[in-house]
Amino acid sequence: MIIAIDGPAASGKGTLGKRLAAHYHFRHLDTGVIYRAVAKALLDARIDLGDEAAAVAAAMELDPEKFGDPVLKTQAVGDAASVVSAYPKVREALVTFQRQFAAEPPGAVLDGRDIGTVICPDADVKIFVVAAPEVRARRRTLEAKARGEVADEALVLADILRRDDRDKNRAVAPLKPAPDAHLLDNSHLDIEGGVRAAIAIVEAVRAGRQRV
Ligand code: C5P
Repeated sequence: MIIAIDGPAASGKGTLGKRLAAHYHFRHLDTGVIYRAVAKALLDARIDLGDEAAAVAAAMELDPEKFGDPVLKTQAVGDAASVVSAYPKVREALVTFQRQFAAEPPGAVLDGRDIGTVICPDADVKIFVVAAPEVRARRRTLEAKARGEVADEALVLADILRRDDRDKNRAVAPLKPAPDAHLLDNSHLDIEGGVRAAIAIVEAVRAGRQRV
């Protein structure tokens, strides 16, 4: 079984996907980390983010062993990720890795922006997670502070709005729900509530299938 979690609020530290995967004993891939790793490679080498060829080269040389690097979670890397992720060839270079991950048994949860629309259009369950930008800004600020970073909530909100706009309006794989995605608004849910709501969606889809 493949579960696709997309949406502007899909990752939030990858918690929802990770928890859902643990619940079903599936494997989990936070695909935002892949784009963040590409961005970090450019930032580390002081290469301009506008250098598409360098971004493609970085995408082809990714080392999944480094996906746990905490620096990947910073705002600066996230912002740079949304720039490099708009390059069609960067996205193309990362498709096979993601599909192979999804196909391996016993099942997988992938979270990102285009899992249900592009990477796994045949996913068994698709969940599109949204939350009010102000709520996401508060959460991201608290996460950043917990990591010891300085974070100004108003600036974090501006960054979120800019990034969402870039993700939604890019030409390739823009952020949008698949027609068969189930909407999950977690603005008023804590992590536990979000996980419960996601499990309820998966179970409803499974039950619906069994009846057919
Ligand atoms: O989810 P996260 O904040 O880690 O993603 C960082 C950026 O990577 C997003 O703003 C988006 O531009 C890009 N991304 C993407 N497709 C994905 C996952 C992330 O374009 N599947």
